[in-house]
Amino acid sequence: MARALFLVFIFLIRLKVSQVMGAANQCGPIVADDIDYIQFALNLEFLEAEFFLHGALGRGLDTIAPTFASGGLPPVGAKKANLDPLIGRIIEEFGYQEVGHVRSYEKTIGGIPRPLLDLSPQNFAKLFDEAVGFKLSPPFDPYLDSVHYLLASYVIPYVGLVGYVGIVPNLSNKTSVSLVASLLGVETGQDAVIRTLLYERANQKVLPYNMTVAEFTNRISGLRNKLGMCGNKDEGIQVPLFLGAENLTNSNILSADSNSLSYARTPPEILRIIYGSGSEYKSGGFYPNGAGGNIAMSFRHKA
Ligand SMILES: *[C@@H]1O[C@H](CO)[C@@H](O)[C@H](O)[C@H]1NC(C)=O
Ligand SMILES: *[C@@H]1O[C@H](CO)[C@@H](O)[C@H](O)[C@H]1NC(C)=O
Ligand SMILES: *[C@@H]1O[C@H](CO)[C@@H](O)[C@H](O)[C@H]1NC(C)=O
Ligand SMILES: *[C@@H]1O[C@H](CO)[C@@H](O)[C@H](O)[C@H]1NC(C)=O
Repeated sequence: MARALFLVFIFLIRLKVSQVMGAANQCGPIVADDIDYIQFALNLEFLEAEFFLHGALGRGLDTIAPTFASGGLPPVGAKKANLDPLIGRIIEEFGYQEVGHVRSYEKTIGGIPRPLLDLSPQNFAKLFDEAVGFKLSPPFDPYLDSVHYLLASYVIPYVGLVGYVGIVPNLSNKTSVSLVASLLGVETGQDAVIRTLLYERANQKVLPYNMTVAEFTNRISGLRNKLGMCGNKDEGIQVPLFLGAENLTNSNILSADSNSLSYARTPPEILRIIYGSGSEYKSGGFYPNGAGGNIAMSFRHKA
């Protein structure tokens, strides 16, 4: 009996993997159920929770809600950032909001163990080097001051946002749609605040580098488009007119398409970006051991 159940279990896992693997091309749809789609996004919620809480408070999720990590390892390399009082206040609130988001998973569809997260300055430095296309000297340190921290934050909620937009049409259950819409609303707000704060500083040089805040955002967005491999879905805070709203403005406080609708990404696109590897099969970046949940695991098993 136990053996028969085990075989059924293996069969179901294989089925799930082959369904997920059945993607027609690298930008096409994947097949997954509501819970898998939504739990996939929990990987990003964990990343945000740890980055914001550590940045503002110098301590993470485990000091606030020890059970929410579901037994996952603590993050490495995160620390308190040197933030001015306004930005510190904003980031602290964002951190608490992420605690609420993780709780809403626990209460509705259930959580996944927190994946190992690498939030070390070295990991951000590598990402920023790749974004600008040369080795920044000294290495980029996200925790150095408010501007560095805001640029590092630019990297994070936007990816969650386009991921939530991407799964909405594929959810079958109203409860799921409602949960995702509610998460998306706040995620979008966070991204908008970060981008607005950056826009205020758009033409300021990010010392000690000879590059402005706007240039950094354009380079990071460019890197994400390159890693995602599915066209332009990510834009910096200042753009050429043909990418601005109605082709009438260079300001780009919100990143959106030619009808000012949010871009959408699939889970494989997101994995390519958050792994920093350009491959959903090759973990790395913020997730040295890979992301959690059935969708990400199905690619890990094929790696
Ligand atoms: C969701 O469905 C749309 C429309 O069929 C498709 O274009 C998109 O790729 C799907 N998204 C995912 C994550 O599978
Ligand atoms: C919809 O999803 C919720 C949360 O996962 C679940 O409790 C509910 O039974 C689902 N409803 C249907 C009709 O599948
Ligand atoms: C900084 O960059 C600008 C152009 O972006 C260039 O004109 C200037 O020479 C650079 N300054 C230094 C010190 O590299
Ligand atoms: C703006 O320019 C882009 C690219 O040339 C084009 O696809 C889009 O339709 C234009 N939008 C409007 C409102 O003219």
